[in-house]
Amino acid sequence: MKLPSDTTIVEYDQPGDPTVLRVRRGELRPPGDGEVTVEVVTAGISHIDAYVRSGAEKDWDDPFPRRSGSDFAGIVVAAGAGTAGFPVNSEVIGHVRSGAQAAFLTVGIDRLVRRPPTVTWEIAGGLYLAGVTALDTLDDLKIGSDDTVVISAAAGGVGSIEAQIAKHRGARVVGTCGRRNFDYLRQLGITPVQYGDGMADRIRAAAPAGVTAFIDNFGQDGHALAADLGVPAGKFRSSAARREVEMALLAEDAASVAHGTQQLEKITALAARRAFTLLISGHYALDDVAEAYADLQKLHSRGKVVLGTKPVNPRRITKARDIAEARA
Ligand SMILES: NC(=O)c1ccc[n+]([C@@H]2O[C@H](COP(=O)([O-])OP(=O)(O)OC[C@H]3O[C@@H](n4cnc5c(N)ncnc54)[C@H](OP(=O)(O)O)[C@@H]3O)[C@@H](O)[C@H]2O)c1
Repeated sequence: MKLPSDTTIVEYDQPGDPTVLRVRRGELRPPGDGEVTVEVVTAGISHIDAYVRSGAEKDWDDPFPRRSGSDFAGIVVAAGAGTAGFPVNSEVIGHVRSGAQAAFLTVGIDRLVRRPPTVTWEIAGGLYLAGVTALDTLDDLKIGSDDTVVISAAAGGVGSIEAQIAKHRGARVVGTCGRRNFDYLRQLGITPVQYGDGMADRIRAAAPAGVTAFIDNFGQDGHALAADLGVPAGKFRSSAARREVEMALLAEDAASVAHGTQQLEKITALAARRAFTLLISGHYALDDVAEAYADLQKLHSRGKVVLGTKPVNPRRITKARDIAEARA
């Protein structure tokens, strides 16, 4: 194909809610040495993008206009010199600090892994930030077969990956969620416990032999709860610690990029051999990016919400969750 000189991109000019997002045309530079141009098929959306966009995240001083999104999957359409391993037509999964939400992007091959055919495009596009955050956290806490771990927001993007990989490593897993997610977690072999008042007693009942580790994704009462459950400080991860993991995964220095790509390779291999599945509960067209973030920010997604540049059917599909919420 002839490489276009511009591409559809998602950008914003000032902080704000999802309505500040603009779907525009932007320059697409040809690949330089060590770079390829990727035609994006799917791209992820994450809470950290929303914190950066809203201005809640203070450690982000990239100039405006800012581009959005860090996870993507797509097909290499042009390759610069020194890109062996990623020829034209390679299917790839990748990460950038921002700007993944685009029809095309030009990136270094140090940010890419190959997409195995068993990892669907939808999963591949939402894999980087959620998957590597989950993997880094489990690695850091050394979660293994001796552990009984409590994971908050276990039906969400990061939590559902953490819970399944912890189980894959032989741990017993208790996941907090609302009642509508009980069956979802049970079918993954995770013991569901409803969050809210009385949660400590419900966790003790679900794990009578005790709890050894606690990962708090949601971030309200994790410290107190972990202490109440007798979890040692070294086996507790707060939501604030998770923010630091995610910010490190978006850093531009060579060591951070290399770490991100190494871990992306591992999480992709785990997905390929079905150590976990990532449920995609929302698949929006790139043009509907503001709506996708509004959905995510309701805080009740199951698995991940992703964007597609070529959705098979761009018409809106009412989700079971929309019906349940309308009735509630
Ligand atoms: N502190 C930080 O910097 C930081 C960084 C990233 C993410 N977070 C937060 O961490 C949470 C999970 O992250 P994610 O990326 O996995 O998001 P996500 O996919 O949007 O998580 C959604 C899940 O959160 C669950 N949830 C809603 N209210 C909850 C509560 N009170 N207690 C426990 N779980 C609850 C929902 O379960 P039900 O539908 O069953 O209620 C849903 O499955 C998000 O709320 C996000 O804002 C914080």
